[in-house]
Amino acid sequence: MRMGVLTSGGDCPGLNAVIRSVVHRAVVDHSDEVIGFQDGWKGLLEGDYRKLDLDAVSGILARGGTILGSSRVQPAHLRDGVERAKGHVVDLGLDAIIPIGGEGTLKAARMLSDAGLPIVGVPKTIDNDIAVTDVTFGFDTAVGVATEALDRLKTTAESHQRVMIVEVMGRHTGWIALHSGMAAGAHAIVVPERPFDVDELTARISDRFALGKKFAIVVAAEGAKPRPGSMEFDEGGKDIYGHERFAGIARQLSVELERRLGKEARPVILGHVQRGGTPTAHDRVLATRFGWHAVEAVHRGEFGHMTALHGTDIRMVPLASAVETLKTVPEERYTEAECVL
Ligand code: F6P
Repeated sequence: MRMGVLTSGGDCPGLNAVIRSVVHRAVVDHSDEVIGFQDGWKGLLEGDYRKLDLDAVSGILARGGTILGSSRVQPAHLRDGVERAKGHVVDLGLDAIIPIGGEGTLKAARMLSDAGLPIVGVPKTIDNDIAVTDVTFGFDTAVGVATEALDRLKTTAESHQRVMIVEVMGRHTGWIALHSGMAAGAHAIVVPERPFDVDELTARISDRFALGKKFAIVVAAEGAKPRPGSMEFDEGGKDIYGHERFAGIARQLSVELERRLGKEARPVILGHVQRGGTPTAHDRVLATRFGWHAVEAVHRGEFGHMTALHGTDIRMVPLASAVETLKTVPEERYTEAECVL
């Protein structure tokens, strides 16, 4: 068989591990041929690809980023390009396409699959917000990076008796904030799923200082928002892909908390550092298993599906169900975290 792989959307530690695994399983065990499209869907639309053999994927398991490059494509542009994409699939003699991506990529994969392209998806995102898989690779790495940063910020916050507001990624969901905040013993966590009350937050930190504690750490997912009317808040706008362009929760909250508490507050934005660098062992294993199972799914002809982790097993789930809803932080997980902060 002949299959094409691509990585699309924001990058994520573990993408190279999937690419390597697809090539190993396909080439070594099935004598297949694999090509890689450059820069995501763009490569498929423009017919920009290269052959992926064992040499091409040698030494990439532990490497962050993606050897294929990535990009975001506007959904309308992709819809207009369906016939072109189909043409390339036919011309290149492809039996399958394996797109590796997050929410936006999987929606595009579903659209192309409905249009008749043979697609087997692989989910990725550091945000961990894909509903039908227990976890996505990249998340564990991002939580590790954020936790280490929080541990480090605690010592400098204590030296200067400051409040640190640490902004982590998480546009729609607060998984990174929740897990890194719990792991580092943060003193408050704010997530997009639950608009926070700034009075309650202030009281919580103030109570901590009243106990004689010298500093406080607040973890804020980038998409977290205050309850409407509870503080002045600039929501930002949208970018050309329809994604929210945040105006900075950490910056805005640090100004507000400094004013209310009379303590120095500093915003710290971890940003893309959470997405860079080598994947953890957990993420390498999950990514490798996803790649292996994607190739098997292609051989079974299970198109219109994607890999997912259910417990300890990898299952194939319909792309349609993968893009129905986002996996948000449930209230009980938040309550659990709150009581140990
Ligand atoms: O989708 C993952 C994500 O890391 C989000 O949490 C974040 O808002 C976004 O990507 C940032 O993307 P970009 O690389 O386009 O700035």
